[in-house]
Amino acid sequence: MTKPTIRNEKDGSVCEQKDGDTIIRAALRAGLGFSYECNSGGCGACKFELLEGEVETLWVDAPGLTERDRKRGRHLACQCRALGPVTIKAATAPEYKPKVLPKRQRAYLIGTRDITHDIREFRFRSEDDAEFLPGQFAMLDLPGLGASRAYSLSNTGNEKREWHFQIRRVLHGQGTHILFEKLAEGDEIGLDGPYGVAYLRTESPRDIVCVAGGSGLAPMISLTRGAVEAGLLADRKLYFFYGARTPRDVCGEEMLRVLAGFGDRIVYVPVVSLPGDNGDWHGESGFVHDVVARALPAELASYEFYFAGPPPMTQALQELLMVGHKVPFEQIHFDRFF
Ligand SMILES: Cc1cc2nc3c(=O)[nH]c(=O)nc-3n(C[C@H](O)[C@H](O)[C@H](O)COP(=O)(O)OP(=O)(O)OC[C@H]3O[C@@H](n4cnc5c(N)ncnc54)[C@H](O)[C@@H]3O)c2cc1C
Ligand code: FES
Repeated sequence: MTKPTIRNEKDGSVCEQKDGDTIIRAALRAGLGFSYECNSGGCGACKFELLEGEVETLWVDAPGLTERDRKRGRHLACQCRALGPVTIKAATAPEYKPKVLPKRQRAYLIGTRDITHDIREFRFRSEDDAEFLPGQFAMLDLPGLGASRAYSLSNTGNEKREWHFQIRRVLHGQGTHILFEKLAEGDEIGLDGPYGVAYLRTESPRDIVCVAGGSGLAPMISLTRGAVEAGLLADRKLYFFYGARTPRDVCGEEMLRVLAGFGDRIVYVPVVSLPGDNGDWHGESGFVHDVVARALPAELASYEFYFAGPPPMTQALQELLMVGHKVPFEQIHFDRFF
């Protein structure tokens, strides 16, 4: 078979596709700035047109494509492999160019700990290195599962080759079933990363706002740890909002409390949408985006925003910030957890 190569008519770039990579992974591994977000078939940011050649579709029903897209012959670069030389038309932009090139390595489970009744931390050690930016994610290949799953890092890049994830158990979820029920210490998985563009902008002079909804905890913890390590909180504040369903889902504080500046430079605001009526919850209640709007002391357009969690939460925040408060798009960085 002729070598799979990908030529993007949009910018004239050419790259080779190796080791069963998808088109997006091949392009990013080659340092190209192809548009993407979730790497998981959910968002549609990696849509492309196939102009020449043949591709194999890995997940035919991926929700990132609409029926209209399918009728128009569009494909998802994160769910397609080239079967030989192909020419495509895909959106590109410099901000998608990876700062750290993603790479595949083997990793081994070295420990776990429960954070709440349904969120558990999983710590892996990889063979080569743990190079990633605060807020990024990795693709995990779990034993017995055909498709990779995306999980955000909660730690920061390190020389101990450790990759930490905080994962919520999903009812009937195949990947989380393997993680929570099957994987034992010492077991091997495939790890490919880092990916993601919602990483810490160390060059921004603004106060920082992190908003985590449910399983969106990990990347916000990583960003906060990264901000402390980079010395960013010497002259600014970081507001950390955690949106939980019920009081027993609230978490994150013990990880922030040990960081320099907690309570002064780092302000933690837990918000519960279903506080119950026994009067035990004394904190903020409602939707986390409403609390963000009323709790921040300055104009929203003066902050750098990071958020992660379920799509309805990220959608509400985008509307609040972009439509309601005209926060410039360049100050908003998020991952939707599909
Ligand atoms: C960028 C990003 C970061 C994330 N970070 C976290 C995190 O830090 N913590 C956390 O708890 N969750 C995170 N998630 C969600 C996580 O990736 C899983 O969707 C979730 O754990 C449920 O997985 P599951 O296998 O248990 O459920 P399942 O229902 O078995 O699978 C759900 C997901 O798997 C993928 N999938 C399903 N079928 C296929 C298929 N045929 N081919 C290819 N892919 C398929 C899709 O992405 C789908 O959303 C993140 C998601 C994204 C996109
Ligand atoms: S990056 Fe391909 S659908 Fe999200």
